[in-house]
Amino acid sequence: MSTRTYRIAPSILSADFARLGEEVRNVIAAGADWIHFDVMDNHYVPNLTFGPMICSALKPHAKKADGTPVPIDVHLMVQPVDALAQAFAEAGADYISFHPDASAHVHRSVQAIKAAGCKAGVTFNPAAPLDVLDWVIDDIDLVLIMSVNPGFGGQGFIDSALRKIEQARKRIDASGRDIRLEVDGGVKTDNIARVAAAGADTFVAGSAIFGKPDYKGVIDAMRTQLRR
Ligand code: DX5
Ligand code: ZN
Repeated sequence: MSTRTYRIAPSILSADFARLGEEVRNVIAAGADWIHFDVMDNHYVPNLTFGPMICSALKPHAKKADGTPVPIDVHLMVQPVDALAQAFAEAGADYISFHPDASAHVHRSVQAIKAAGCKAGVTFNPAAPLDVLDWVIDDIDLVLIMSVNPGFGGQGFIDSALRKIEQARKRIDASGRDIRLEVDGGVKTDNIARVAAAGADTFVAGSAIFGKPDYKGVIDAMRTQLRR
């Protein structure tokens, strides 16, 4: 059993867009630790989702019953990065991660996110190497490993991501810094334990949670798997 603090981050990409505020409240009541917010621009990825106005509309809903805020984890699948990152910071994002290959100046984008008061993350596509981590690891708060190609929910987990998670875990531990290692895509109750064993501590799950009527049932089952 690991002593890591795990976080489950439901992706509202698979929520009912006609009832987003209610979906955010319901999934928080079901035990969500973070709200994962997938921003797609129909340019860096083929799909198109939602922007900063939706984020600020949801911000008041991102809290527990006792008022404790629940972090909004914005995953930017956009190119370029900086202007939208700034807009999401103003819209109430807590974490903002971006794909390094979508930014001409990765270090500058990280600094801009932090200067705007947010925690910064870098995201790696399934075939992307981790090399850029060597040059930003002193500044970031989050590493996001894609275990599907970005753009759509409901895809199957790509197994090579497990090796990449192991490599990212080594780099994070060697840095001695407090950096979350998040995995995104195809995470389900039946593979979350393997993903955790590879070194991940934060788990995005969209279709696995919002695809079932009982969100708490799924989140509880995931936590049970993480305790084994
Ligand atoms: C893909 C998104 C993921 C996705 C995960 O581009 O970044 O967050 O919604 O969805 P599932 O859990 O359905 O694979
Ligand atoms: Zn995502």
